[in-house]
Amino acid sequence: MTKVMTRIQGREILDSRGNPTIEVDIVLNDGTLARAAVPSGASTGIHEAVELRDNDPGRFMGKGVLTAVDHVNRIIAPALIGMDAGDQRAIDQTMIDLDGTPNKGTLGANAVLGVSMAAARAFAQSQAIPLYEYLKIDAGYLMPVPMMNVLNGGVHAQWQGADFQEYMIVPFGALDFRTALQWGVETYHSLQTLLKKKQYPTAVGDEGGFAPRVVSNEEPLELITRSIEEAGYQPEKEIGISLDPASSSFFQDGEYELKREGRRLNSDEMVAYYRRLVDTYPIVSIEDGLAEDDWEGWIKLTDELGKDIEIIGDDIFVTSPHLVQKGIEMGVANSVLIKLNQIGTVTETLTTINFARNAGYGINISHRSGETPDSFIADFTVATFAGKIKTGAPCRGERVEKYNQLLRIEEEIGEKATFAGRNAFIR
Ligand code: PGA
Ligand code: ZN
Repeated sequence: MTKVMTRIQGREILDSRGNPTIEVDIVLNDGTLARAAVPSGASTGIHEAVELRDNDPGRFMGKGVLTAVDHVNRIIAPALIGMDAGDQRAIDQTMIDLDGTPNKGTLGANAVLGVSMAAARAFAQSQAIPLYEYLKIDAGYLMPVPMMNVLNGGVHAQWQGADFQEYMIVPFGALDFRTALQWGVETYHSLQTLLKKKQYPTAVGDEGGFAPRVVSNEEPLELITRSIEEAGYQPEKEIGISLDPASSSFFQDGEYELKREGRRLNSDEMVAYYRRLVDTYPIVSIEDGLAEDDWEGWIKLTDELGKDIEIIGDDIFVTSPHLVQKGIEMGVANSVLIKLNQIGTVTETLTTINFARNAGYGINISHRSGETPDSFIADFTVATFAGKIKTGAPCRGERVEKYNQLLRIEEEIGEKATFAGRNAFIR
């Protein structure tokens, strides 16, 4: 029996910051009901697909998504009802055509993505196969290294802490995902103890990492390296550090404003700063070290550090195959951050992954700072053999649920699972 969609319904729900977002239900002719929810960023790239908000100041400070919900129910649903839920490509293409813009500006990428993810989940469910199995692009199973954001700064900490947005620990030296997660959790708790000793508050930021008012952007690197040791692990050998400065958010008039350090640096000075940090701490990747429009600076950054560590493009690529292609041609970065809602459909996201991988670029699947308990990206990471997932600290339910889903997946795969380990990081 072909599994056709008989009902598609969007609704407005809340994300982890208490902002409205979209959830979509899809029902199939066999009675299957599946549901997906869309995340939302705070340090968004300017070239991301459009996240449609109502801008009605009378509701949720303008952040309501009733217009996008209406697009799901009134425009998308009538076009998709009756279609085969197993034809993801046709479903996504129909929405792209209905939208008619290069950036989902008509329907809203949030409306489109909710339907795209719910359709995939509905079909997998109706076949009684796991989502990662249905979306899997190759034979075998690769469990990712978790990139756990244990210290939050920048906009995710209301600019009260470090200028750099994310300090992640990457326990690549473990033999399986479960153990890697355990090492990461132990390091997170040892960091908490260290912060308490220094009388830093241990309240957490948007992604569950601690958000102390540190004295410099370097101090968290010292603290994290110590907390790795105090948890009983070897920095560099067993656990590394990944940085996401998200530097577009402090780039102004051609300079990088490090408020915490009271100084402004140009691209060359930023690259030199990163070189020193990489030489001093066990850093294995830097994401968005420079700003989204500083392409010339990115070339220098890649030339200087691309042989030693992974240079990941997030805001500069926004999961777009066109921008990734520009990056490949210009020698910018050696790795791509992948966020489904930056582009808006499952199919297009897979295209970008494929494209980047064929050029030898690394793949990192990512959550957003505004999340829901939907764990789609956990399955998606396994399905795409990404080898890495960044989905926050082991704290806050919406972050932990992704890690918990990966525990379930690893258990289910059993002996056939391979852990990505150190090799997941491009050098
Ligand atoms: P965002 O941050 O979800 O707030 O955009 C995540 C990131 O920059 O990687
Ligand atoms: Zn980022």
